[in-house]
Amino acid sequence: MKIVLGPSSRQLGERIASVLKAEKVPVAFKNFPDGESYIRLEGDVQGEEAVIVQTTSPPQDSRLIQLALIADAAKRNGARSVKAIVPYMAYARQDKIFLSGEALSVEAIANMLRVAGVDSLLTVNVHQEKVLDRFPFPAKTLSAIPLLAEYFKQRGLEGAFALAPDEGAAHIAEQADQVLRGGYGFLEKKRDRYTGQVSMEKRSFEVRGKAVIIFDDIISTGGTIVAAAKILKELKAERIYASCVHPLLVSDAESRILDAGVEEVVGTDSVPCLVSKVSLAPLISKELLD
Ligand code: R5P
Repeated sequence: MKIVLGPSSRQLGERIASVLKAEKVPVAFKNFPDGESYIRLEGDVQGEEAVIVQTTSPPQDSRLIQLALIADAAKRNGARSVKAIVPYMAYARQDKIFLSGEALSVEAIANMLRVAGVDSLLTVNVHQEKVLDRFPFPAKTLSAIPLLAEYFKQRGLEGAFALAPDEGAAHIAEQADQVLRGGYGFLEKKRDRYTGQVSMEKRSFEVRGKAVIIFDDIISTGGTIVAAAKILKELKAERIYASCVHPLLVSDAESRILDAGVEEVVGTDSVPCLVSKVSLAPLISKELLD
């Protein structure tokens, strides 16, 4: 197995290669003056299982094209198989047709990757696991929630209450609770399909005087966390933290969240940024070894 260091996840790829003691294949890349992507493998993959590590957080379209080009180059250069490690799977939230006339974006992307040469795919906390059944190759998702919960436990927050922003994410809070052991619950979230506006309602749980950690798969605009923090304030939670696997944090999301009374935002290196305090390398490496 050789670890191909995709430009968007170079550091994570290096960490995985280091855990696995696997050989790395650097990737040279650039954009042409007209914006087109160029890549070139700077190593030999002949006869190898090429494991490409390339997240597809923003700018997702160019990162997806890079991934497709790397898969093509790996196959053309004799790779026996190509596995794509895509910690953040772009377009995964468009996993069904919500309004007539829409594209089923994630399926279209997976088909494109298949044609480019991808034989299997590993991702982390994909928005809805069942969408992977639609992929034209074996695809699996891992959960980084226990790693995030462990981070808070190490910071003295064992016993904190784990909260998910909606019922669909309740399993995430439950996973965190298996580490933190402070109880878990979820809120009731609704999003306007046209405006994107989030509204949230309480559910019955007791957090007065407690430390609460909100766990979600993605923080994008921060609207979900801000709405959840508002409710937690009303419920007199003593300390509020926010955590996610994929910290997209578009625009001023982090400062909006901190202004809402959240003490700290913690994410993983699925999306490399200032809040990527937890690495996915141990989780992904273990899966590659199994
Ligand atoms: C959506 O259902 C996801 O699980 C996240 O809650 C959502 O993507 C967060 O987006 P935002 O930060 O823009 O509210």
